[in-house]
Amino acid sequence: MSSSTTTDLDELIQLDSTYHMSTYSRIPVNFVKGRGTRLWDSSGKVYLDLLSGIGVANVGHCHPKVVRAIKNQLDSLIHVSNLFYTKPQLDLAKKITEISFGDACFFGNSGAEANEGAIKLARRYAKLKGKNAFEIITAFRSFHGRTMKTLAATGQPEKQKPFEPLPPGFKHVPLNNIDALKKEINEKTCAIMLEVIQGEGGVYLCDESYLREIRTICDEKDILLIFDEVQTGMGRTGHMFAYEGVGVVPDIMTLAKGIGSGLPIGVLVASKKVAVFKPGEHGSTFGGGPVVCAGALATIGVIEEEGLVENSRQVGLYLKTRLEELKNKEGLIKEVRGRGLMLAVELKEEKAKDIVIGLLKEGIVVNNIGNNIIRFLPPLCLTEDEVDEAISVIEPFVV
Ligand SMILES: Cc1ncc(COP(=O)(O)O)c(C=O)c1O
Repeated sequence: MSSSTTTDLDELIQLDSTYHMSTYSRIPVNFVKGRGTRLWDSSGKVYLDLLSGIGVANVGHCHPKVVRAIKNQLDSLIHVSNLFYTKPQLDLAKKITEISFGDACFFGNSGAEANEGAIKLARRYAKLKGKNAFEIITAFRSFHGRTMKTLAATGQPEKQKPFEPLPPGFKHVPLNNIDALKKEINEKTCAIMLEVIQGEGGVYLCDESYLREIRTICDEKDILLIFDEVQTGMGRTGHMFAYEGVGVVPDIMTLAKGIGSGLPIGVLVASKKVAVFKPGEHGSTFGGGPVVCAGALATIGVIEEEGLVENSRQVGLYLKTRLEELKNKEGLIKEVRGRGLMLAVELKEEKAKDIVIGLLKEGIVVNNIGNNIIRFLPPLCLTEDEVDEAISVIEPFVV
């Protein structure tokens, strides 16, 4: 179906089915190059990427400044372990605390790992306060990762069922229902963990008033508020962090995806009061390695220098407006949701998979959540002209 050459693709499909566990239902394209908002497959066909490797290539693919920073670091030191000091790690930690509410960081290798760290930190904090509080309340439809604890935190029973029994200590509530949340809080609750905009669950936004009330409850009861900003962070929603857009500051935030431009990184960020880990209580062999941290530092630099947060807000609004126009033509689109360049259209019919494949044939990369939601997570350097280009291709599929 794609323009990847049949032979190279056939070989990869064969290798995948023979040597890789069947964890992914892959789309048959072999991408070989990326620059900015564009991807190339092995036949040379060019695509407009509106997915960024699931919200990762926020500064665009292979940004020269990020590539240079990584190459420079590769030439001097790749790994030495956390037994020693390394400058890229500490420069990055300092930078993240300068641009966020946080006072201290811990580095792991993925979003799930950052969330594991957040769960441990919340439990440790409660224990040090002398409380027997270990439960964490999260929302239905949330997604926090695939490790056993983050799977238990994830509010999607269909993802959990094959792996039951799950680690205990997690409760789920319907999003934006403050009474349902209040009912689940008791002396065992150590934290409430939320995505400000649920990503994998289908791009559902938390109400600002809901988050404000939760902040008040957390303050009153000394319960920690954790925002999983793995997907919403690094300019994605038109703010550097989504919490800024809703005016509610968490105690702990997790980052991954867009901070590393594709290098494996997860960051646990906490306020001084909450950053209570002592030596030996948490760690990672690879976490915070010099190459990844040099790449992440360069990524933040590009986001700032190129005004990508503002671009995400402006071009995101433009894309949302253009999608709303398509919705108003009374075709397949039921709803347009999201903020900045984290958007989704919900369809009236179960046609999302076919549309995603159809768009790919036409050179547009998006993805589907279930069979009625199409998700847009483009690089934050997307232009309005590229939005127009995308809309002209999308229109015949949905109107
Ligand atoms: C909000 C959120 N949290 C956690 C994760 C897990 O991140 P990773 O796949 O890097 O472990 C994801 C991944 O999609 C996510 O969107």
